[in-house]
Amino acid sequence: MVEPKDFVEEAEQNIKDNLIGKGILACSGGQDSTLLAVIANRAAGERVLTVFINTGLLREGETERVEQIFQRYKLNYRIVDASERFLENLKGVIDPEDKRKVIGKTFIEVFEDVARDYDADTLLQGTIAPDWIESGGDVRDKIKSHHNVGGLPEKMNLKLIEPLRDLYKDEIRELSEYLNLPEIIQPFPGPGLSVRIIGEVTADKLELLRGVTKIVEDAVEEQYKGKENIPWQFFAILLPVKTTGIHGDRRTYGYTVAIRMIDSLDAMSGTFTKPPWDFLEEVSTRITNEFKVINRVVYDVTNKPPGTIEWE
Ligand code: XMP
Repeated sequence: MVEPKDFVEEAEQNIKDNLIGKGILACSGGQDSTLLAVIANRAAGERVLTVFINTGLLREGETERVEQIFQRYKLNYRIVDASERFLENLKGVIDPEDKRKVIGKTFIEVFEDVARDYDADTLLQGTIAPDWIESGGDVRDKIKSHHNVGGLPEKMNLKLIEPLRDLYKDEIRELSEYLNLPEIIQPFPGPGLSVRIIGEVTADKLELLRGVTKIVEDAVEEQYKGKENIPWQFFAILLPVKTTGIHGDRRTYGYTVAIRMIDSLDAMSGTFTKPPWDFLEEVSTRITNEFKVINRVVYDVTNKPPGTIEWE
C-alpha cells in the first residue's frame, strides 16, 4: 500500500472533492469507521456528522469508550440510544440471517431519522474490501449478510463516499497507528451480541452475555498482555442448551456458555487458539462462580473453515 501519510491526504482530497452539502457517517466504534470519522473530520470538520447508534447489543462500557474517542478527536458527533427499539424488533426472531436483516433495517431506520434531521446529502461509509467480498460483492457467494453494506444509499437518496473501500485490515491498522488512534484489540461484529445469543435475544440474556463477555475479554487480555500472539478474536456464546449440574449439594439446571478463541490474519480463515488448560480452567471457574445460572462452559475447537468465526 501507499505510505499512510499519502493515503490519508488522498482520502481527505477524495472527501473534499465528493462531499455534497452536509455529510453523515455511521460510526460503530470499530477500527474502520472510527478511522474514517477521523479522516472525514480532518477533511471537512463540522460539515460531517458522526453518528453512533447504541443498539443495546454492545459490550459493557462500549458507548462510553467510543464517546471518549469522539471527544478526543473533537468530532462533530451524535450518540443515539436505540436499544429498546432494537430489542423490540428482535422479539421472536431466531434465524441468524433474519436477525441481521432486522438489525440492518432498524439501523437504517434510526440512521435515516438522524440524517433527515441533520439534512444530510452525502453518506460516508467505512466499508473495506473484506466487507463487500464476504457479502457477495462480485466475487464470492454470499456467506453472511454483513449489515454495513448494501441498502443504505439507494433507500436514502444520499450520495455515497467510501474512501476505505480497497483497504484490508492490516492497512487499516497501519493508518490507525499513523493517526494515533487507540488500538482496537479485536473486531466486534455489527449485529453485536445478538449473533452470540443462539436463539431469541432477550434483555436478560443480553445482560448475562455482557457479563460473561467481560470476564472472557479481561482474562484473555491479561493472559496475552505484551505478547505478539494474542488471538484475533475471543468471546463467549450463550447457548440455548440447559444441562444438569451441581452447586454446593444442590442439583442445578443451567445455561451453557461456549468460549471461542481464534487465530487469524484477516478473518477469512482461522485456526482455533490453543491456550493452556489452566487458563481455560480459570476462565470457566470465574464464569460459573459469578453467574450461578451458568453451570457449564465448553471450548470451541473448530477451525474456519468449516466453522465460521461467529456461531451465527
Ligand atoms: P465469520 O463469522 O463470517 O466472521 O467467520 C468473520 C468476521 O466478520 C465478523 N462478522 C460480522 N461483522 N456484521 C459485521 O459487521 C456481521 O453480520 C458479521 N458477521 C460476522 C466476525 O466477528 C469476524 O470478525
